[in-house]
Amino acid sequence: MDPAALEILQTGERTLLRHPVPADAPAFLAMVEASRALHHPWVHPPGDAAAFGRFVEHAATERLQGFLICLRDTGEIAGVATLSEIVRGLFWSTYLGFYASAAWAGRGFLKEGLGLVLRHAFGPLGLHRVEANVQPENTRSLALVRSLGFQKEGFSPKYLRIGGQWRDHERWAMLAETWEGGS
Ligand SMILES: CC(C)(COP(=O)(O)OP(=O)(O)OC[C@H]1O[C@@H](n2cnc3c(N)ncnc32)[C@H](O)[C@@H]1OP(=O)(O)O)[C@@H](O)C(=O)NCCC(=O)NCCS
Repeated sequence: MDPAALEILQTGERTLLRHPVPADAPAFLAMVEASRALHHPWVHPPGDAAAFGRFVEHAATERLQGFLICLRDTGEIAGVATLSEIVRGLFWSTYLGFYASAAWAGRGFLKEGLGLVLRHAFGPLGLHRVEANVQPENTRSLALVRSLGFQKEGFSPKYLRIGGQWRDHERWAMLAETWEGGS
């Protein structure tokens, strides 16, 4: 893949943000395969070529934005983020999803990368609210959204059906007014 052909959406100190493209399939699917233990039971990322193709197809649309958080040095995929159910009108809101590559987890790349996602959401996308719903037992994700400055708004019993079961979630949100701007 020619890195120069990829549109970089946001750049941080160690990571950059871009949409996935079809040529990412081998690296993306290898990352998902190698990260199963980290992702289970919290997220179910695209796990085959067809599912990845659908992710790419919808990753830069009105309703959904999908991002790869890549290492600036090597271009490797450190993590993935999505902004889904983007609603404008009176709402200008979206739901944040994310997962790390096990190979790069725990080094602060997701924290920086999700900061870039917020910068993109409140900047070019013009959104007002980014909501993250996290299961109470998912301590690493709760620590991450807390450290990014999300505010806990509430608790939603049986909120999302994940792995075939309705799961309780904590509702965390960041507003454009409280977003500190990226670093
Ligand atoms: C939640 C998840 C994305 C966190 O990924 P991560 O790679 O650990 O995230 P980060 O490294 O950016 O998190 C910050 C951690 O890195 C550390 N860190 C921050 N900057 C750092 C740096 N420059 N160098 C080294 N470590 C650093 C922080 O101290 C923090 O560690 P702590 O958790 O012990 O406090 C990952 O565990 C995951 O994929 N979980 C499964 C998917 C999931 O649950 N998704 C959310 C569903 S709602």
